[in-house]
Amino acid sequence: MTILDGKKVSNDIKNEIAAEVQKIKDKGEKVPHLAAIIVGNDGASLTYVGSKVKACERVGFESTLVQMSNTTSEVELLEKIKELNENPEIDGFIVQLPLPPQINEQKVLLAVNPDKDVDGFHPTNFGKMALDMSTFIPATPFGILELLDRYGVETKGKHTVVIGRSHIVGRPMSILMGRKGFPGNSTVTLTHSHTKNITQITSQADIIISALGVPNFLKAEMVKDDVVIIDVGITRVTDETRPRGYKIVGDVDFANVSKKASYITPVPGGVGPMTIAMLLKNTLLARERHNI
Ligand code: GUN
Repeated sequence: MTILDGKKVSNDIKNEIAAEVQKIKDKGEKVPHLAAIIVGNDGASLTYVGSKVKACERVGFESTLVQMSNTTSEVELLEKIKELNENPEIDGFIVQLPLPPQINEQKVLLAVNPDKDVDGFHPTNFGKMALDMSTFIPATPFGILELLDRYGVETKGKHTVVIGRSHIVGRPMSILMGRKGFPGNSTVTLTHSHTKNITQITSQADIIISALGVPNFLKAEMVKDDVVIIDVGITRVTDETRPRGYKIVGDVDFANVSKKASYITPVPGGVGPMTIAMLLKNTLLARERHNI
């Protein structure tokens, strides 16, 4: 069994990006600049955005954090997005999800300039992704592809089962694993809350990508020997023995499933760090595209 070490691979990628930034600096050009908007004070979202800003510093990017209150109106947020769209200093930006209930998420995602949409959430970019056109691939799916690629995990002709159809992970992942090329060329089954007898499906899978958010959902009895497991779950579970009072738990019963798997991602230290590294990669790409 091989651990797909997202912490290590994401560090390698950050080092590669830092080297690119150094080349940019040596030429006296402007370094990439990522901005992040966060609305409200959800603890997990603040942590994720904080990690994104810290990662920018680590590779030598400029970063801007825009914090807006929980009572921000849709109009105010759209105005801020317009500002970032028009600011030539900003190469790419993200609006951290979820948003408070008074704000329509679809309207917000549509307002982001697709050339600065480093999350790859705008319908134009999502459509390009589905049509194999060059675009920004959403960071978490992009990170999973990169892990499979760097460990040389065979995907061609394999049966990939995706659990969960979220717009951020499950849906794009189901498209990407079926694309021509590597990683891809899989036969894909997308499962969700209305799927009947999921064990019958997961037990036939060569690769399982679980993005459900239910701790320890995937048990050893649900998988076959030598399965490849990608665990995207990051649920906070109360744990008074930890300094923060919680621990992060994945969708997979790691202790038992890992005994049957050929490759498996741990939680934490698997897909999570990859997401941040690929957001940086998309920001670097955005800067290159603006400078063409
Ligand atoms: N919320 C959870 N994951 C993500 C992500 O990848 N991007 C943004 N913007 N919000 C998220």
